[in-house]
Amino acid sequence: MNFFRIIKARISRFLNPPKNIEDEFHSKYYYSKIWANTYFMGKNVFKCPNDLWTYQEIFWDLKPDVIIECGTFKGGSAHYYAKLFDIMDLDGIVITIDVYAMPDLPKPDRIVYVSGSSISPEIFEKVKELAKGRKKVIVVLDSDHSKEHVLKEMELYHTLVSKDSYLIVEDSNLNGHPVHSGWGTGPGPMEAINEFLPNHPEFEIDKTREKFLMSFNPNGYLKKIK
Ligand SMILES: C[S@@+](CC[C@H](N)C(=O)[O-])C[C@H]1O[C@@H](n2cnc3c(N)ncnc32)[C@H](O)[C@@H]1O
Repeated sequence: MNFFRIIKARISRFLNPPKNIEDEFHSKYYYSKIWANTYFMGKNVFKCPNDLWTYQEIFWDLKPDVIIECGTFKGGSAHYYAKLFDIMDLDGIVITIDVYAMPDLPKPDRIVYVSGSSISPEIFEKVKELAKGRKKVIVVLDSDHSKEHVLKEMELYHTLVSKDSYLIVEDSNLNGHPVHSGWGTGPGPMEAINEFLPNHPEFEIDKTREKFLMSFNPNGYLKKIK
């Protein structure tokens, strides 16, 4: 984050103070940037531990065959999902997509790296092919967090989510929910969710997955109910 973005975030926080204790803690935690300094077994994973624990609970409940992730970055979350498959003795794979190939990505045991834009039709077809035959599918969207991009990802990847599983839209806390309000990041994942849901009654927000009071994905655990 550059100097001007830090200043912008501080002014925005000053002009739009948190409304309740949960939002206050969320903001304090978020702006500390500790989430960028969070590790699982030595691998940098850009997530709030509450959400990592929620993923673990979802894995246990669903016993997925595949998790598709848009946004690999350093591979920390892909590594975490792969380890969950190991620990739970599941025969699952992680398909993870990024426009950039970072150096020193975790070794590809169970992890399939796909290089390209998540919204390109060719990449989507490739992912579909890789996931073919795998019945229980979770999708996590953690790439470009602009509304337009997230909505395109949702329209493409929701078709791969199996019944009773999840389309997880990450970082819906941006643009004032509760962080980066005012001069924030502009419409983002939350606004994409709000536009997507009325046209997709087969998905509903599963608030039970936000039980730890703070999630970086508010309203972002979308369960496929039919
Ligand atoms: C927030 S990081 C992902 C963090 C990672 N999932 C984790 O939890 O450690 C977002 C990543 O999305 C990637 N990205 C941005 N636009 C993308 C696109 N159109 N398609 C695929 N990946 C994209 C960026 O290169 C970046 O590595």
